[in-house]
Amino acid sequence: MELLDYDMVVLGSGIAGLTAAIHASRESGHRLSIAVVSKLHIMRSHSVAAEGGISGVLYSGLDNDNEKLHAYDTIKGSDYLADQDAVEVLVKGAPDEIKFFDHIGVPWSRRDDGRISQRAFGGMSVPRTAFAADKTGFFMMRALYDELLRYKNVDVFNEHFATEFIMDGKRISGFVALDMQSGEVKVFKSGSVIIATGGFSRIYGFTTNSYSNTGDGTAMAYRAGMPLKDMEFVQFHPTALIPSGILITEAARGEGAYLRNKNGERFMKRYAESKMELAPRDIVSRSIISEIRAGRGFEDKGTGMGYIHLDLMHLDSKKIDERLPMIKEMTIKMLNIDPSVESIPVRPAAHFTMGGIDTDIKGRIGSGKSVFSGVWAAGECACVSVHGANRLGSNSLSQCSVWGRSTGIEAARTAGNRRTKKTRKFLNAAEKEEKKIYDMLEKEGNLNPYELRDSLHDIMNSELYVYRSIKGMKNAKKRISSLLKEFPDIYVADKGRVYNTNLRDVLEIKNMLDLSAIAVESALRRHESRGAHVVAEYPKRDDKKWLKHTIISKSLGGMRIAYAPVKLTKWQPEERKY
Ligand code: FUM
Repeated sequence: MELLDYDMVVLGSGIAGLTAAIHASRESGHRLSIAVVSKLHIMRSHSVAAEGGISGVLYSGLDNDNEKLHAYDTIKGSDYLADQDAVEVLVKGAPDEIKFFDHIGVPWSRRDDGRISQRAFGGMSVPRTAFAADKTGFFMMRALYDELLRYKNVDVFNEHFATEFIMDGKRISGFVALDMQSGEVKVFKSGSVIIATGGFSRIYGFTTNSYSNTGDGTAMAYRAGMPLKDMEFVQFHPTALIPSGILITEAARGEGAYLRNKNGERFMKRYAESKMELAPRDIVSRSIISEIRAGRGFEDKGTGMGYIHLDLMHLDSKKIDERLPMIKEMTIKMLNIDPSVESIPVRPAAHFTMGGIDTDIKGRIGSGKSVFSGVWAAGECACVSVHGANRLGSNSLSQCSVWGRSTGIEAARTAGNRRTKKTRKFLNAAEKEEKKIYDMLEKEGNLNPYELRDSLHDIMNSELYVYRSIKGMKNAKKRISSLLKEFPDIYVADKGRVYNTNLRDVLEIKNMLDLSAIAVESALRRHESRGAHVVAEYPKRDDKKWLKHTIISKSLGGMRIAYAPVKLTKWQPEERKY
């Protein structure tokens, strides 16, 4: 088995991962040996799909905006579950991140006076989302990629699928990965690892996420003993295209699009009179499903899916061409709908996982005395937590950039002290994992992986969607646990080693099953409705009992559940009205 030895490894290559690698390299004067390991080609990371923009107070005072207001919007948007000290770090760091991307070549959309344009987004008091048309993530990724290519001390490993971390107690020593091209298993040895593997919304069938968002790093962290936080909170983006789930950016509503029911009514006036279409996503998603349930939605004949209309027809078509060109291209290509003349059929889809690997404000994993050594998490896989129970749109790209930078710098500063040795124990762990992977490839079985994945998607789509119930979640728990029991009978039909996506799919399915079981368990136990977690039997937020984070970690007997207080600094929880 090939052994690759680095001062530092970044696992994952979206905006958080590449930002971490760049800042780590700069911090070390480009002296550290750094590897970026990605299960895809790095330019296919899901960050390229980010459309609407990145939040940050660029011009304090303009539109009466300031960082305190950004923090307040974020905390209120989070339904008061965000850690307020972390939110303060986010809003303070975000403007510099937008400027950093300006310096490395992002072609921001600009105003006539040359300033970077900022558009309105849901739950934000003023327009503070910087954007590059509706392809912001793509342009940010391209700039990061171009920048990284100049760094000779950074090696990129495309299409290497990581399967398990190697730990020495609470210290990380590396991880094992399957090289998709050759089918060889390799081991990366490093005492400093940044996990930046993205979210896990692919546990749902109807999602805006690419097929790759299976939460591999999060599942690996859990299996390695690291705690996960607030896994019950999954965000449903209100406007995903029917029936594919392709994202129709919130920027469409930021630019003035309306939501209408089948009576042609702008129904948001019933649910969020002052913000209308620009209420936070949890509220807009609930409103759409309420309309559909009340018989005021449409029904897609082919799939039976209920939907409502997103209406851009009243917007100047020049504005659509300039600011939402990809949306127009996509709706024409996918549904033959030109949004300047026809409404777009949409419904909420799983979009973002607020929960993830439990990190402190510096991106270190765990807390207090139980902090893990040499390992950080950044981006969507990390729960720091700045989004609490509901993220505001465009706060994710700022989160990825702020914590990408800070974890990269911190990891680089300490990497020299963290070199690990090639011990027999390390090699044994790697060899054991290699055997596990090849055993999975070679064994026979009766269970078709894609049928199992479909079953999981059905369960998550139906029982853990915008509205949940205890009965439904108990049913989900039971069904997922029987899928987990059946999993050992799964088979990989393709027995070849080269580019075996069938094998990778099976390994991803196991990660998704593990994470779904954890999300359901966390959700079942939270007896209140907060943000994206709305439970029929407990329709109200309950700050007395539930103003706390759910922490789940692996124990011998299964899952260990604990709770941790939410950090409040300046803002007391109050009723959320929009
Ligand atoms: O709608 C969007 O463009 C998504 C943005 C986000 O999730 O931050």
